Amino acid sequence: MAEPRFRAPRGTRDILSPESDRRRALVGVFADVVGRAGYSEISTPLFEDIGVFQRIGEATDVVTKEMYDFHDKGDPPQHLALRPELTAAICRAYTEHRPTVPWKVWCEGPQFRYEKPQAGRYRQFAQVDLEVIGTDDPHADVEVIALAHQFYEALGLTRFRLLVNSLGDPESRPGYMAALLEYLELHRADLSEQSRETLERNPLRVLDSKRPEDEPVIAGAPVMVDHLSGEAAEHFEQIRQGLDVLGIDFEVSPRLVRGLDYYTRTTFEFASDALEGAQNAIGGGGRYDRLVEDLGGPPTPGIGFALGVDRILLACDAEDVFPARPGTVDAFVVDVTGGAAAVSLCDDLRRVGVSVDRAFGGRSMKAQMKVADRSGARFAVIVGPDEESAGTVTLRDLRGADGGGQREIRRDELASELVRELGADQSTDDIHRG
Ligand code: HAM
Repeated sequence: MAEPRFRAPRGTRDILSPESDRRRALVGVFADVVGRAGYSEISTPLFEDIGVFQRIGEATDVVTKEMYDFHDKGDPPQHLALRPELTAAICRAYTEHRPTVPWKVWCEGPQFRYEKPQAGRYRQFAQVDLEVIGTDDPHADVEVIALAHQFYEALGLTRFRLLVNSLGDPESRPGYMAALLEYLELHRADLSEQSRETLERNPLRVLDSKRPEDEPVIAGAPVMVDHLSGEAAEHFEQIRQGLDVLGIDFEVSPRLVRGLDYYTRTTFEFASDALEGAQNAIGGGGRYDRLVEDLGGPPTPGIGFALGVDRILLACDAEDVFPARPGTVDAFVVDVTGGAAAVSLCDDLRRVGVSVDRAFGGRSMKAQMKVADRSGARFAVIVGPDEESAGTVTLRDLRGADGGGQREIRRDELASELVRELGADQSTDDIHRG
């Protein structure tokens, strides 16, 4: 085959069936899990004023290195960016619409970050996201974490761990930052060059370094959980108790800072042991009690998470759960009388809720039956010259034990007959849902 002239851009992929069916099913599972907890769906634009995302943190890679930004054709042009994440966009939507609180929403879709592509790391990747805006009740933190946990379980995943940390509140931060800065300055010479640079801009982010040469310094660094104010410590304690009550295992990971700057108090991450270390984060989130205010809204606390759909599906493959199943149709019309009968039969059946496909191009009976078999359809509806003149069709069960029985039925009874047959066979529906 000749090399195609164009390919999908580096770091992006086309997603074909059955993978596309699996993604849709995954979002369905997510919608079910969070819908049962009173979350409603929100959809925000794929691009925003770049200022919205700059609030993620001027010292983060997501903002300084990875943003797809551009000027539009306006006069004057507006500086926009493709969304690298959803939290800032959802907080912007909150400030714009001021819904009643707590505002419990979920969202899904593609995000864009100019990262170095590798397995599990893409430039366009999908997230499912959930946010609760307008409460700092620690039970909201517990609910959010528990829902992510329930979602992974609903997919069948078992080999994942929950890491939690508290990054403290405005009262705890200054004391901790002073202690951290003093320590890191003392060990500056032992840090990697990148971490020495990071130290200038954001000392906390040094703890996020995965470079081996930074490891010993990071291992000895003071940790936030030892510097929490009474209130922040109590908040963290209530979250741990809540997770205990629900029987959700977690590890307190005092160096979990995450790659975005808006976090206050709770942060958490889910790591899959079925994936390679560097790309094993299948989701993460935390509190962002100042972000709404940073975006020009009133002081409003918030908490949420985003889970990486691409990585979750890699973890599903590695754990052999939630397999990709192509969507199938209930019936396949094989018309060897010219195709006009198939046009009206398909239309009639689709109108009564039977999913049905057909072949095009006036192909032979044998060729059409082959396509019917491949389609995974439960029934073939066959129209030949005899049936056409008799006003009947032949209904063949393609999945019957003995190669499928068949019978001739009146054409005007086909729709009700199929509805009855399919209703009796609930498994057909299950196959549809993948
Ligand atoms: P994040 O940790 O940047 O957080 O991303 C969340 C998840 O998205 C990651 O754990 C990972 O599964 C997936 N992910 C991130 N980058 C990539 C990539 N380049 N390729 C594939 N998957 C990726 C956030 O986005 C925050 N907005 C989470 C949040 C919501 N915090 C509060 N609310």
